[in-house]
Amino acid sequence: MGFVGVKDIAEKIRSKPKREVIITNPKIFSLDYVPERIYLRRELDEVIKSVRNYLSLGVPEHIIVYGSKGSGKTVSLKFLLRAIREGYKNVLTVYINCRNTNTEYKVYKAILGRAVSALNARDKVIRKLKSKKAIIVLDDIEALIKPADLLFILSRETNAQMIISATNIYWYKNLQDEAVKSSLLPQQIVFKQYNPEEISKILLMRAQEGLARYDEGIINLIAALVARDYQSDVRIAIRALYHIAKNNDWNGDAVREYVELASREVDLYTINTLSDTNLIVLYSALREKTTSRAYKIAKAIIRRIYPHSTLSKRTYFKAINYLQALGLLLKIQVKAKGRYTYEIELLVDRDIVERAFKERFREFLGSSGDEDTKERSSIYDWRIHGNTLEIEIACPRTEIESIISRNITREDIRFIALTREGDILAKIPKNRYNKEWLEEQLEKFKK
Ligand SMILES: Nc1ncnc2c1ncn2[C@@H]1O[C@H](COP(=O)(O)OP(=O)(O)O)[C@@H](O)[C@H]1O
Ligand SMILES: [Mg+2]
Repeated sequence: MGFVGVKDIAEKIRSKPKREVIITNPKIFSLDYVPERIYLRRELDEVIKSVRNYLSLGVPEHIIVYGSKGSGKTVSLKFLLRAIREGYKNVLTVYINCRNTNTEYKVYKAILGRAVSALNARDKVIRKLKSKKAIIVLDDIEALIKPADLLFILSRETNAQMIISATNIYWYKNLQDEAVKSSLLPQQIVFKQYNPEEISKILLMRAQEGLARYDEGIINLIAALVARDYQSDVRIAIRALYHIAKNNDWNGDAVREYVELASREVDLYTINTLSDTNLIVLYSALREKTTSRAYKIAKAIIRRIYPHSTLSKRTYFKAINYLQALGLLLKIQVKAKGRYTYEIELLVDRDIVERAFKERFREFLGSSGDEDTKERSSIYDWRIHGNTLEIEIACPRTEIESIISRNITREDIRFIALTREGDILAKIPKNRYNKEWLEEQLEKFKK
């Protein structure tokens, strides 16, 4: 080893072990990244065929794409739109993710590409979509509140082709509205779960784009584990590869741990992007196993967080079905004392749910008051429907009641309903509201 001085030893101690930087482009591993090239699955070919027919003949054939989470619905549809944009400049393409764009009116705004009065949004959309060919992707349709009106208008009054994605293969079958069904008549395409080879190919593509070096054996191992234990959710595979590369740890024995880490990370991401109601319903399943008891808990929590508001059984079960579609829980029918009831089995770590819940509702559940309700309040939609004015306001119910009672007498309010967590829909008879007042409120709340 030779002679060294104190200085040399000190230097040795100071110098950190060199960690090779392997990730050359981290954004390639983010979950919403759309790559330059995608792996073409056979089912997407069918979608392409029907788009081609529409572009040449102008007669829309609507499509619903089903597939479990991480089966490539979003990336395939975004990619398809990108390709259409390049080849057909005069075709309008719109991508809508219903998780954020979750009402009829918000979808109209997205189609129009600008803010527009709710009064004539629908007419404007109809006019716009009549004047040219349009392909509208409605991704994650299950998150859309009251989809029937929107789908009816788009399929009946316009010539646009709709491409819809859903996780639950019964989504269309469960749709109650016959009128919508008869005008939509979609072609239904199921994206099969990827097999390990397909997952490997997708991972390899990412590795080539974003890593300085990688180990194909490890990639195959990730793919095999994800196909076997995680319903081929490619998001988990991609995140696992990312963490392995970040730690430069290409040791076969550790792969399982990285896949588990990635799975928790993806779960946390899914849970954190849930609406308040859905998160509360999920959390209630931690506390009680049967839906009848968990429902009561969820209802009590909602009441505590949004005083005076309530959670109907119908909304509760809608939330349960949606959470099931996201793969967060399982609803199981069981027989107890001769009667059928449901039990809920959580499919994610209890800790993750607990943590997400506490973080989101800390200020409501703690002892401190709700100083920040002001910040949470905003009118984000209003429209005239039949002979009532409907205002959607995101704020706790107490707040809206005080706003309204200052200006309109209580008898004028025919109906106040909870649309989403704390989003209040106030319906006021047309002849009873004061336009100036409303505009003033809009000014005050719009920010
Ligand atoms: N065929 C594919 N080619 C390239 N990447 C894919 C493919 N399928 C899935 N992915 C990647 O896997 C992840 C999950 O896919 P995504 O489209 O978000 O799934 P879904 O919308 O069905 O939940 C994304 O990062 C996506 O880019
Ligand atoms: Mg998706």
